[in-house]
Amino acid sequence: MSARQSWNPELYEARHAFVWQLGAGVIELLEPKAGERILDLGCGTGQLTERIAQGGAQVTGLDASAEMIGQARQNYPKLEFVLDDAAKMRYEGEFDAVFSNAALHWMPDAEAVARAIARALKPGGRLVAEFGGKGNIAQIEQALDAVLAAFGATRSEKRNYFPSIAEYAAVLERAGLETRMAQLFERPTPLEGEAGMANWLRQFRGHTLEAIEPARREAALAEVVARLRPVLHGESGWYADYRRLRVIAVKV
Ligand SMILES: C[S@@+](CC[C@H](N)C(=O)[O-])C[C@H]1O[C@@H](n2cnc3c(N)ncnc32)[C@H](O)[C@@H]1O
Repeated sequence: MSARQSWNPELYEARHAFVWQLGAGVIELLEPKAGERILDLGCGTGQLTERIAQGGAQVTGLDASAEMIGQARQNYPKLEFVLDDAAKMRYEGEFDAVFSNAALHWMPDAEAVARAIARALKPGGRLVAEFGGKGNIAQIEQALDAVLAAFGATRSEKRNYFPSIAEYAAVLERAGLETRMAQLFERPTPLEGEAGMANWLRQFRGHTLEAIEPARREAALAEVVARLRPVLHGESGWYADYRRLRVIAVKV
């Protein structure tokens, strides 16, 4: 995997189902048709892969985490799931569409991933994706930076890739993909329960907190939560300051 990450399928499915539930709108953009061959890039535990397959498309789910792919195979034994890094996959002109929800920001080598997507598509094939865009989770990142500094730890992990529309359209164009639609929008996303932010941090920033010695990690996490409370905790509870980038691009 190109960035150090830690994926916990149990926590993901129990507490972060919103990720694939909010991905339903991206499937509407994909408009999968029966008989089409579709690649679900960064498929995680497979819920959207299965949703796409329901319409009669022939779907392959691909993910770089052995834990997530293992869970996907267990969830949907009839579907095909492949363990691979999107930047290194070697499909050649096989897919009518590449779909990706909430995954491309975990792949810092965006140029290599875009080239691999373009290579995987048939001529005229489409990429339909949503992921974190410029400014995504800015408040959460700021609080993490401050707490890590306060704990004397250095943040050395590869940051997520949160591009602007212009940056990403240029990446796609260099790979031979023409952007037909791009949208950057704010989507404050509710997190479940009073432990919502702590759970989010454990799931999505566990690798960041590893920069702090184990005995002080929980205290650091509590400090991040405390700093975020005045900013991201409202009347209806916790939310994450998500900004999403949606794109449709076609292989030219
Ligand atoms: C937040 S999950 C989203 C999963 C799924 N698409 C969904 O909507 O529920 C992000 C997924 O991207 C995968 N991922 C990260 N880097 C990857 C890479 N280089 N190649 C393939 N998958 C990757 C992770 O393993 C993880 O399962």
